[in-house]
Amino acid sequence: MKIKIFQNDEQLYNEIKNHIISEIRELPSFNLGLATGSTPEKLYLKLIEAYTSKEFDPSSIKTFNLDEYIGLEESHEASYHYYMQTKLFQHIPFKGSHVPKSTGNPEENVKEYNKLLEENPIDLQILGIGSNGHIAFNEPNTSFLETVHIATLTEKTIIDNSRFFNSIEEVPKTAITMGLKNIMNAKKIILIATGLNKADAIFKTVKGEVTEKVPASILQQHPNVTIYLDSEAASKL
Ligand code: F6R
Repeated sequence: MKIKIFQNDEQLYNEIKNHIISEIRELPSFNLGLATGSTPEKLYLKLIEAYTSKEFDPSSIKTFNLDEYIGLEESHEASYHYYMQTKLFQHIPFKGSHVPKSTGNPEENVKEYNKLLEENPIDLQILGIGSNGHIAFNEPNTSFLETVHIATLTEKTIIDNSRFFNSIEEVPKTAITMGLKNIMNAKKIILIATGLNKADAIFKTVKGEVTEKVPASILQQHPNVTIYLDSEAASKL
């Protein structure tokens, strides 16, 4: 694991943007894994700026999101479809963009997304991390061997994510998510964490034992992970 710590957000997100673009330039076609949440918002602004100033060509890039709530319409403002559409996809014309389906038959959607990922191996996966160490919606005690599946959100994640909804009752209790096995199959991974509320999860991810109690700890076994942190998220290392 490579750890990079930055004193300000501007430098942090600029470096991540440069890292992604240099990876994209190395391959004639590129499969980019994406996350939602607060953490990558500034990264997406940087990527839009970079696209506008022609720093990369999106026409050979396909994107694949980690997860989506079950049961929210794509047009719901808290859905990950809506987030991705408004924060990235309507600004950058990628070759194709895929977010797991939130409606319809969940089991069929799981199968379909697993197949899509098998056919399109991810070159670089962007990850955030939950304050309980989750990545995507792989909550503590999820098997490291899981592929795409339907996950039940923990109380902690429901509380953390309720800020995107009008009330905590509105937060869906289940989600469709890439499993840890799909994530570990990515050739390269970038994990981003900012803020004091991530410090404990980052400490356990980097220095703790590899255990299903801390889903992100599996990343210690991946051959190419770079972790980008601000000083607060890095404060327990
Ligand atoms: C989102 C995702 C989640 C978030 C995590 C952190 O697609 O997969 O695992 O990365 O919950 O969320 P924020 O960035 O809002 O703190």
